[in-house]
Amino acid sequence: MTDVLTDLIPLPRTIRPANGGGCVLDADTEIEASPGTEDVAQWLRATIGAATGLPLPPYAAAENRVVLRLSPETGAQLGPEGYRLVTEGPGVLIEAGTGTGLFWGAQTLRQLLGPAAFRRAPVDGGQRKWPLPALRIEDAPRFAWRGMMLDVARHFMPKDGVLRYLDLLAAHKLNVLHLHLTDDQGWRIEIPRYPALTEIGGWRERTKLGHRASPLWDERPHGGFYTQDDLREIVAHAAARHITVVPEIDIPGHSQAAIAAYPELGNTDVLDTTALKVWDTWGVNPNVLAPTDHTLRFYEHVLEEVLALFPSPFVHIGGDECPKDQWRASPTARARIAELGLADEDALQSWFIRHFDRWLADRGRRLIGWDEILEGGSPAPGGDTTECGLAPGAAVSSWRGYAGGIAAARAGHDVVMCPEQQVYLDHRQHASPEEPVPIGYVRTLEDVYAFEPVPPELTGEHAARVLGTQANVWTEVMDSQQRVDYQVFPRLTALAEVAWSQLPPPAARDHHDFVRRMTTHYARLDALGVDYRPPGGPHPWQKRPGVLGRPIDGAPPNV
Ligand code: ACM
Repeated sequence: MTDVLTDLIPLPRTIRPANGGGCVLDADTEIEASPGTEDVAQWLRATIGAATGLPLPPYAAAENRVVLRLSPETGAQLGPEGYRLVTEGPGVLIEAGTGTGLFWGAQTLRQLLGPAAFRRAPVDGGQRKWPLPALRIEDAPRFAWRGMMLDVARHFMPKDGVLRYLDLLAAHKLNVLHLHLTDDQGWRIEIPRYPALTEIGGWRERTKLGHRASPLWDERPHGGFYTQDDLREIVAHAAARHITVVPEIDIPGHSQAAIAAYPELGNTDVLDTTALKVWDTWGVNPNVLAPTDHTLRFYEHVLEEVLALFPSPFVHIGGDECPKDQWRASPTARARIAELGLADEDALQSWFIRHFDRWLADRGRRLIGWDEILEGGSPAPGGDTTECGLAPGAAVSSWRGYAGGIAAARAGHDVVMCPEQQVYLDHRQHASPEEPVPIGYVRTLEDVYAFEPVPPELTGEHAARVLGTQANVWTEVMDSQQRVDYQVFPRLTALAEVAWSQLPPPAARDHHDFVRRMTTHYARLDALGVDYRPPGGPHPWQKRPGVLGRPIDGAPPNV
């Protein structure tokens, strides 16, 4: 089928022409929401109702109606997120085992209505009729974790932008927003017990413009943070879209903003931590947390507030890129290593992570961390950990390639595959120097479409450990929502299809068909107001001439 209305992304499991002439949504169309489906009806009214101008009232008598039905049989057949969508007429039927499945079905219905269904108000005065082709769609996701990580620490994205991104994720059937809330360059979550985290840690005096080798500075102060009510709103907006927000508090590295606010968190026996400010440039930072009881208690208090705000089963504690130089130089850290009988500083980092792993497990949550959390670990006496020294429920975000994920899966941990070589969307999308502030690997839309989350090294029960995948959006060189849009789209669309659809192995994937369907999808993104990278390269106003990125030749990718 090549009809614009059926150019669905992500590709559903099956889509077949059905009997009858299809149906038409118009001013008479009603929504029949059986018990347990009211929130999907509400979303349809708020979203498709707004775009079309149709009132879509609750079912009274109309033949022409959208029926939302919970069906245990459909759930048994298609799983917890699967749905069936039938448009044989006179109305539309969406059935699923759960409200989540119905919601994804409603997203497909929106795509079938055409790009104008992605606007926030009708462009025709609300008079139009909205035809739907006669189809039977059966659909279910390949992976349960289909995500995007957004770094709101390097550049703050105001709350409205995060709510908008949740809408964009939902439109692509993505269901995890991993929020990177803390880093050297900013602390973005209000913690009333420690107000200086945001009063001091929430902004910086100036910002390096471009790659850290760039001579340019943006001399404007940069900052912002989410209040606890902002975060409750974000979590509720996400939940209404069947999206889980996974908060990340990055420890023990990437912590200079916290140390600037509370200098006693740093290695005070190595340097004068009172002189540290929120960092204004990029890279891996040597100023890491001190491995003291005080630091542990402080972060337990922070995490208590995090748990109260975020119902996510997973809490991300970072663990990446923690240089050990200060610990090597610190009598306090060395004494701690001796007291605990640890082998070295890597084992000290593992002890640090393990502390919060157990702390979270005791509270019914699961730790997730970058793949460095596997380093320096050894099984705990008593047998309550795996060979990595982590609770069996701990999971790993595999970012330095597949290797960490493979090791974690083999050790019995769940894995989210997000290798920087494939799905880091801060990396340039074309080799051309015209790309705005180009950094990292060249990864085109087609490259992301060729990404396979389960490497051939993992089979059987180990392959099943791959919960799914996410794209990571680090924002050092993205100082606005428009810049984030440019880096994220269209490539997140490819990631969404990789995460949702049952695609063949990369070599056999139909890139041509994907690119063809993208033609329609660009019109949806236009209607949504997404500032994506056009297939031919950046618009003039999307370029950043004169702002240094990173030369391609031989350079490691890190900004
Ligand atoms: C990372 O990119 N440092 C996880």
